[in-house]
Amino acid sequence: MTTRTPTGSLSRADRDGSSGRLAFSPGRPPDREEVTGRVHDQYAVHPFPPPQRKHSYRGHAAYVRSFLEGIGKDPAGWRFGDIACGTGLMMLDYALEFPEASFVGYDLSETSVDRANEMLRHEGVGNARAAVANLLEIEETESFDYILSWGTVHHLADPFLGISVLCRALKPGGVLRLGVYGHYGNFERKLQQEIIKTVGGHLPLEERISLVRAWAAVDPRVVEAQTAPPVDLGDDDWVVDEFLHAWEQPLKLGEVVGCLGSAGLQVVDLTDYYDEPISLDPARHLLPGPLRPPASHLSFERRCHLVDLLARPYWLSVLAVKQPGGDLRLPGEG
Ligand SMILES: C[S@@+](CC[C@H](N)C(=O)[O-])C[C@H]1O[C@@H](n2cnc3c(N)ncnc32)[C@H](O)[C@@H]1O
Repeated sequence: MTTRTPTGSLSRADRDGSSGRLAFSPGRPPDREEVTGRVHDQYAVHPFPPPQRKHSYRGHAAYVRSFLEGIGKDPAGWRFGDIACGTGLMMLDYALEFPEASFVGYDLSETSVDRANEMLRHEGVGNARAAVANLLEIEETESFDYILSWGTVHHLADPFLGISVLCRALKPGGVLRLGVYGHYGNFERKLQQEIIKTVGGHLPLEERISLVRAWAAVDPRVVEAQTAPPVDLGDDDWVVDEFLHAWEQPLKLGEVVGCLGSAGLQVVDLTDYYDEPISLDPARHLLPGPLRPPASHLSFERRCHLVDLLARPYWLSVLAVKQPGGDLRLPGEG
């Protein structure tokens, strides 16, 4: 396992945007080191989730228990991975829900990992620990029974390489839960992020945080834009995560499903952030009558793409099971 602290090659001013330089030129593919360095530096200073979210993931963990029961899986003795675990609050609720399993959390941010381990010790949780690791460099193969990666893949320089790494780390028969920003959802927030970047991209981060708050104070749309959970504008770390992220590329459901399928995983469930089901049947999403017959002949991947276009979920929570004998090659490998 490589555990290192990527810093990228940019100066501090470039990384936090205060140099006024555009971070990435349009059309230029993102440089992996540069993106990872920027994201690392953000979460080193602004770890996430903040302490006020403690125990807010209990329902999520309970949902996973009932899901596993529903597909006939017994998690006793399982090795769970929370990749990337942030400050560990989700792992805490999982560890409490599944005392019969053990938990490993990985994260890029040493600040978050230290905070996670401190909190787990303080809570007397003995079956979970966090360590520093870059998701894109995890070399473990078939070592986890369950992998959770919540709110992170869309912050990677190469999200589909990231998903493939997670798939490789999962045992055959294992379960992956991926929570990502959807490409077609929450357009209002995406516009707000872009407006802040355009107006304040040259300002130091502290001033951009103030700018978001000043805007929110006079414009209810900033608060009302549908995000889950609702942003706490009083918390700097949350404002940065929501409005001023160093790198974010929301994903299309069809592409996620395709990537999972090529790594041998079958998608079995789709929900929103709060575990509310999202049907994978396009006809359940106001698909106009004349389009239904041709839609019924689409592949599963294309049907998922259609569901994404019709439902436009802000958040895609995908549960997938790794089929025995899945293809473990990563993109670019022979
Ligand atoms: C929005 S937070 C989500 C934290 C947690 N999963 C949750 O939902 O509560 C995103 C996390 O991803 C981590 N992260 C981003 N890129 C990463 C990478 N390449 N490897 C490991 N962790 C990464 C960040 O440090 C941060 O803690």
